[in-house]
Amino acid sequence: MAQILLPLYLILFISLLISPSYSQKCLSQSFANKNLYTHCNDLTTLNSFLHYTYDPTRSMLSLVFIAPPATPDGWVAWAINPTGTGMLGAQSLIAFKDAGKLVVKTYNITSYKLEESKVWYEVKNSTAEESNGVIRLFAEIVLPEKDKTTLNHVWQVGPSVTNGVPAKHEFLTANLNAKGTLDLLKGESSGASSVDSRTKRKNIHGILNAVSWGILFPLGIILARYLRTFPSADPTWFYLHVGCQMSAYIIGVAGWGTGLKLGSESKGVTYMYHRCIGITLFCLATVQIFALFLRPKKDHKFRLYWNIYHHGIGYSILVLGIINIFKGLDILSPEKKWKTAFIGILIALGAIAALLEVLTWIVVIRRKSSKSTKPYDGYGNN
Ligand SMILES: *[C@@H]1O[C@H](CO)[C@@H](O)[C@H](O)[C@H]1NC(C)=O
Ligand SMILES: *[C@@H]1O[C@H](CO)[C@@H](O)[C@H](O)[C@H]1NC(C)=O
Repeated sequence: MAQILLPLYLILFISLLISPSYSQKCLSQSFANKNLYTHCNDLTTLNSFLHYTYDPTRSMLSLVFIAPPATPDGWVAWAINPTGTGMLGAQSLIAFKDAGKLVVKTYNITSYKLEESKVWYEVKNSTAEESNGVIRLFAEIVLPEKDKTTLNHVWQVGPSVTNGVPAKHEFLTANLNAKGTLDLLKGESSGASSVDSRTKRKNIHGILNAVSWGILFPLGIILARYLRTFPSADPTWFYLHVGCQMSAYIIGVAGWGTGLKLGSESKGVTYMYHRCIGITLFCLATVQIFALFLRPKKDHKFRLYWNIYHHGIGYSILVLGIINIFKGLDILSPEKKWKTAFIGILIALGAIAALLEVLTWIVVIRRKSSKSTKPYDGYGNN
């Protein structure tokens, strides 16, 4: 049974590894003179995008900021903050409709009361256009400090403009997290540079679950599946397997708890699939732990059914766990290296499993061809 299932799971496993490649949405956006901009970044929140070219010799930044305003009469803003990471001190370009015409104005933001003013950089040229509920803000700016090519940037969208003054934006997570660092030379924008406590907890949630479902759990399966081929490893494999899965379960439950807490605090956004898969995983894993105590004796006639059930649930947890880790990675969108590291670990585990699978078959075939009176039953528990 498991012998038939395993290759299937391996195929699933490998296709999972190939599929979650990032596709940058900004690459497929089109607007006039798009080819003038060498870099583009999908910004982390508010469906916003930044296309830009930086000329270091003139410290000239040509950019297009694209975002949907919160309502059709709202505003969009992109800013550099040379002195901090948030809104206070942001040197902003804001695009909105003034007397029916789209304008771009600059603001040195010192409080929630906005007043048009000069900013830290020089604006050579700026315009804005709107189509399909999205505003594109074009600007050519000259940065005053030549060496400063890594900048804190902030972006925002707002619902309305009163007497030519952009009104306050919402204070949802997406609005509050609309900041990051921009590397003009590398062409990269990374998420919020000062990691807030919520993001920290999200990271902890991610690490706990990746270690549990993504590493310990598959390792426990590998131990059980391949060690028990060797009679001398009995009952060591059993204790290793139980120990590994118990640790995975405990860490997983901790990760699950942090996830539930994060979910209950997240008022605006619900990650339906991630949540449902997470809850299913917890239930399956709990059933699996109880299965340990309900296990019939090795020679009991129900043992075969118990095995099928135990392996079925085990492999389901394996697949769902890995799917959910990738879902979580997409939600959290950490630096690329984390995803790469996790994929590396999965490939290593997969390779070890594949190698052991081959070795096991060789051992089994040898045993069968030698004059053993006890043929291997494919489960090693004869
Ligand atoms: C922005 O306003 C603050 C407070 O009034 C001031 O200290 C700062 O120099 C201003 N920045 C620019 C670039 O004008
Ligand atoms: C300002 O930008 C517009 C559109 O990007 C461009 O057509 C125009 O030539 C620019 N003007 C100057 C003075 O650079």
